[in-house]
Amino acid sequence: MSGLDDVIAAETSLSEVDGLNGQLVIRGYRLEELAGRRSFEAVLALLLAEVLDGGEAAIRTALGAARRTVFAEVERIDAALLELSPVEALRALMARLPGGEDAGTALRLVAAPAVFLPALVRRRRGEAAIAPDPALGQAADMLAMLKGRRPSGAETAALDAYLVTVSDHGLNASTFAARVVASTRAGYASAVLAALGALKGPLHGGAPGPVLDMLDAVGTPERAAGWLAAELARGERLMGFGHRIYRVRDPRVDALKQALARLGAAGDGDAGRLALAETVEREALALLRRAKPGRALETNVEFYTALLLEALGFPREAFTGVFAAGRVGGWIAHAHEQVEKGRLIRPQSRYVGPRAA
Ligand code: ACO
Repeated sequence: MSGLDDVIAAETSLSEVDGLNGQLVIRGYRLEELAGRRSFEAVLALLLAEVLDGGEAAIRTALGAARRTVFAEVERIDAALLELSPVEALRALMARLPGGEDAGTALRLVAAPAVFLPALVRRRRGEAAIAPDPALGQAADMLAMLKGRRPSGAETAALDAYLVTVSDHGLNASTFAARVVASTRAGYASAVLAALGALKGPLHGGAPGPVLDMLDAVGTPERAAGWLAAELARGERLMGFGHRIYRVRDPRVDALKQALARLGAAGDGDAGRLALAETVEREALALLRRAKPGRALETNVEFYTALLLEALGFPREAFTGVFAAGRVGGWIAHAHEQVEKGRLIRPQSRYVGPRAA
């Protein structure tokens, strides 16, 4: 059954994914002009220009205040929530936020993953949650709430580059889910929850944790080729490779690889881990080329996401939630665009079941 590959289901002025040329353009800027060069707040100002007032500085201030507001919900984290995976607990906490189609709702939703995820990680470890510092930018504050210390400039720059890199990406599965829900006028919170539900699957934003599981299982560079070949022979998919749209290298891979290199140059990286990952990447690409000659399978964004978020100290089970922290602004921008310019999304199905007598 089709995955709607060739269906154009929306018109958007937010981002364009050019899968043949390996280019991602966000509001007229190539990703290379944004990641590592413009702050997450500056990119939110681009994506959410019709939803939020003011530019980068105003959004930074408003988002800081929103982080403080949503932190009140952290007190309500209980034992039942801590038994869920972090992304499921994040989903439950975000479901408690009020809905609407206004700037305040949007700011709270953008602030929420950055506040809830570090709190969940710490509480799962038996540590107290740390309150946000509204004076910081979103990336620095998210790391401060995770680590309990002011992050280094290199750490902040790396997370900021990551959040920008994943901020929007055409009509991916979670964004489509957000637009479907927004088209019913259910409000931004419901649209974001639908998107988060879609994001957590391993074929979408749930892949980076398994990428690290794969690196751990491989263990050393010399075992890479044999381990990967055995995995493919068993019919398994190699996590962090392949993409529905890109037929050449995903441009986000290089943006993240550069952020990782800068982190390593600042002494915050793990050279051994990176060397293992590069060997696994090289061997996996060679094997995939041989196994699926008709299909251009390349490294996808999740491969270097895993390494970057690990180097920043996020536990692997929290990676999908960090992805959500970067993508949530894009989801809301699409929800807004759908409400303003679209109609109720209601495709048709072809009935293939038994006919009535
Ligand atoms: N490893 C091994 N084989 C693969 C892989 C992979 N990573 N990806 C695709 N293939 C194979 C499929 O088995 C299929 O083979 P077949 O035709 O013999 O059945 C062929 O390549 C085509 O695959 P499709 O399923 O058509 O690719 P699709 O566009 O549906 O899937 C997807 C894209 C889901 C990302 C896929 O490549 C995959 O499962 N990758 C691994 C998981 C992953 O990395 N997910 C993160 C994606 S990035 C993101 O969402 C942010």
